[in-house]
Amino acid sequence: MKMQLITRSIGAPINRIDGIQKATGKAKYAYEYPVEGAAYAFPVQSTIARGRVSAIDASAARARPGVITVLSHENAPRLAHLANTELEVFQTDAVAYHGQFVAAVVAETSEIARQAAELVVVHYEELPHHVELRADDKALYKPPTVHEGQDVTDRFDGDVEGALNSAAVLLDQTYTTPAEHNNPLETHASIAIWDNAGITIYDSNQGPHAIRDTIATAFRQPPERIHIITQYVGGGFGSKLSAHPPIILAVMAAQVTKRPVKLALTRQQMFSLTGYRTPTIQRIRLGADNNGHLTAIAHDVIEQTSTSYEFAEHVAVVARRMYAAPNRRTTHRVARLDMPVPTYMRAPGECSGMFALESAMDELAIACGIDPIELRIRNEPTIDPETGHPFSSRGLVACLREGARRFGWQQRDPTPRARQEGRWLIGTGVASSTYPVYYSPASASAQVDHKGNYQVHIDATDIGTGARTALTQIAADVLEAPLEQVQLMIGNSDQPAAGYAGGSSGTDSWGWAIFNAANALHTKLRDECGGVIPAEGLSASGTFDANPELQQFAMHSFGAQFAEVHINRDTGEIRVPRLLGVFAAGNIVNPKTAHSQFMGGMTWGLSMALHEASVLDPRFGNYVNHDFAGYHIATNADVGTIDVVWLEEDDPHVNPLGTKGIGEIGIVGTAAAIANAAYHATGIRVRDLPITLDKFLS
Ligand code: MOS
Repeated sequence: MKMQLITRSIGAPINRIDGIQKATGKAKYAYEYPVEGAAYAFPVQSTIARGRVSAIDASAARARPGVITVLSHENAPRLAHLANTELEVFQTDAVAYHGQFVAAVVAETSEIARQAAELVVVHYEELPHHVELRADDKALYKPPTVHEGQDVTDRFDGDVEGALNSAAVLLDQTYTTPAEHNNPLETHASIAIWDNAGITIYDSNQGPHAIRDTIATAFRQPPERIHIITQYVGGGFGSKLSAHPPIILAVMAAQVTKRPVKLALTRQQMFSLTGYRTPTIQRIRLGADNNGHLTAIAHDVIEQTSTSYEFAEHVAVVARRMYAAPNRRTTHRVARLDMPVPTYMRAPGECSGMFALESAMDELAIACGIDPIELRIRNEPTIDPETGHPFSSRGLVACLREGARRFGWQQRDPTPRARQEGRWLIGTGVASSTYPVYYSPASASAQVDHKGNYQVHIDATDIGTGARTALTQIAADVLEAPLEQVQLMIGNSDQPAAGYAGGSSGTDSWGWAIFNAANALHTKLRDECGGVIPAEGLSASGTFDANPELQQFAMHSFGAQFAEVHINRDTGEIRVPRLLGVFAAGNIVNPKTAHSQFMGGMTWGLSMALHEASVLDPRFGNYVNHDFAGYHIATNADVGTIDVVWLEEDDPHVNPLGTKGIGEIGIVGTAAAIANAAYHATGIRVRDLPITLDKFLS
């Protein structure tokens, strides 16, 4: 499948082609488009987690000069039914979670809207709520699938209990991770315009086509009448993959007021309205012989979902493919809580699952008296244990070995508390990393004018990853044109359909469609026009549907994460002066933007390890640390040296360009590497994230 391509720009560290626009403020983000006669919406959110709205007194708000209308279930237009009832804004008086929209003010300015929203008085009939995830919850149930239909809930291979009972070395531990919130710098924002052209929405999202389809369904419009424009996005991390209540509210407000309506969430509102990573309780049991060969892996996950929609994360799925244990058990049980719907957050599934599995592998290595890298190498599978297929490429062992060499692993004394400098205990740790190769169908068109200027159209999104640049490089090389002569047009649902910027699938899938479109144009120009561009120009299109080789090969990226951790003996303070990530993730289109993706993922892994936790107040069902003062994210002072390395990997099966996707793997395994290093430094095993200083003071 891999094509022989003369790569002139692929592989070159090209600067972001939109870098100047972004740095100079010329790049327009959703909320920044000037629109004539805009009105502004500001929501009122429920203060109870479950019950109903018994009365709304909006008289004071309505009396405030500048207020255009106050919307609620009492006067809202009817929407179509949606699979995720969280999107059914103002359709009933029911309250399903704390922070739900119960009313909204639309006003002449955002300040008036916000002030008037404070004046709306909402009365509730409160019902008992259930908001806490607990391992002993009687109401835990087995969802029909996890990962929204993409993975089976449970898998039982071989005789796990028998193998665990007879194992020479047995590990049985429970690991927990807290709820965490996606916090892109740009909060969710929309400008909705409902006029004769249909509904036009400037919106911050990860995939205009998906948003278009949801809006079309909700407002009972043909999809062609919906136009989603998404030129620049200040991050998403999964929270902007699908529509959330704010965009529904913006469109509804435009419908009612017949004005363009602007709505941008505040940071605080993000904590109840745009998803979060589910907390997890993960029991891992590993059985091994005295040489560290795994005989059984059991990974049982408990997590939460909502009453509005069943989002069941695929946390244990990663344990199905990592190691060559002949007996395997992976299960997911879910609590349906009176909470907002959890959603995807960078490396959903793998991120939480690998914290537990890779912490457990470290514990097993210690129990067996085997080096943790050697333990992983001894359990390297020759084929994918889940499907029985060969891996299209699997660079885990190479990454571990290269990382060990670069990190200086051979000098490591495995004894905990062996290294100390002054009052600081020093430890090092390692963990594996992995992320699947995902695809989604995409189409693209390519055209050239008589001067030799190319345009390529696809409804892709660049959420800050550098996709706009990498895709231009791909197009230019296939067209055999200089980069400057190729203009890539993305981020508009009127363009050829494409999947979202998620699942690290963009470069693979959009890139393949662009490859086909550009190839078609190039071939047409050569075969039909003798290489001479006709006066009226020339165009062609191409699609990508599916990779047929997925039926024969397991396709995943792999990596190895290394961490050095310093922990203060007196205060428990934790510093991470050094991280190293070595990845095998296929062909790298742009080394500069790819480096940032890996480094960004690792930085977030550090943040997950040490800081991030959304704190629930079970009395009210809300996350109380709902801002950057209370929800800590790693900042410059927390981050030491982060070295990013990738290995040459030539995978002929993944797509014509050999790319695998790099957006998410950087976060996977980082927290485990840090926890393992913290154990090595102190002899104290932290199985409950985040790793805070109190956990070392006993
Ligand atoms: Mo990613 S969590 O698939 O945006």
